[in-house]
Amino acid sequence: MSRVALVTGGSRGIGAAISTALKAEGYTVAATYAGNDQKAEAFTGKTGIKTYKWDVSDYETCVTGIAAVEADLGPVDVLVNNAGITRDAPFHKMSREQWDEVIRTNLDGVFNMTHPLWNGMRERKFGRVINISSINGQKGQFAQANYSAAKAGDIGFTKALAQEGARAGITVNAICPGYIATEMVMAVPEKIRDSIVAQIPTGRLGEASEIARCVVFLVSDDAGFITGSTLTANGGQYIT
Ligand code: CAA
Repeated sequence: MSRVALVTGGSRGIGAAISTALKAEGYTVAATYAGNDQKAEAFTGKTGIKTYKWDVSDYETCVTGIAAVEADLGPVDVLVNNAGITRDAPFHKMSREQWDEVIRTNLDGVFNMTHPLWNGMRERKFGRVINISSINGQKGQFAQANYSAAKAGDIGFTKALAQEGARAGITVNAICPGYIATEMVMAVPEKIRDSIVAQIPTGRLGEASEIARCVVFLVSDDAGFITGSTLTANGGQYIT
């Protein structure tokens, strides 16, 4: 029987590439999305991947949503915490609301999704958790005190949980994409984006499919000895 993979924010951007790559590898995939019904429907129509609408920043909603996925598809073996938002502003202009929105989605969301699945993975003695962090959680980024804090938090969460999961056959890893050609990066003003591309030694933005292939590897049986790691894929922009 094929393994079940749940990808948050899995119908757009990097998440859509991850969902389709996992499906191509034979996983049964469920993709969550927060708001854009039209894009989610179009994604399901094109790929046949089932989509579920809920807000990862709300714990009870995650519990209910995960129960619906498991009733439809069976126990979740692979969780990809990909859902993320930006609310960029220089710190002196950043509102408490911009801080909260990003922390709730990008950091609390990872707790809210992983926690309800954790005991099931422990009981079945198998699990794969991938947390999509960011280059900006590693190096910090101007106008992203909120995002950088959340994404750095995701790396700490990964390292702690990897130690708890290891004996139960669960691996927990983080991936830090650099600047990838998605709507999120295209929303950065062109002049700033150009200056960012100029800092990338490969001379280009990354492709979402390049991150998806990292996920496919880390969730495979071949990667069973890799846990607590941070896989950096940023074109050489920041070397840790
Ligand atoms: N480094 C240094 N200075 C910068 C800067 C940077 N990266 N970006 C902007 N500034 C400067 C501006 O030039 C400006 O300087 P002056 O006042 O001397 O002109 C000052 O900071 C602030 O400018 P504004 O008052 O115009 O700021 P604003 O309130 O309009 O905000 C902004 C503009 C939202 C910060 C905009 O510059 C921006 O979007 N920057 C990009 C931030 C970024 O890189 N975000 C990453 C998004 S992609 C992502 O997050 C995915 C991932 O994981 C990689």
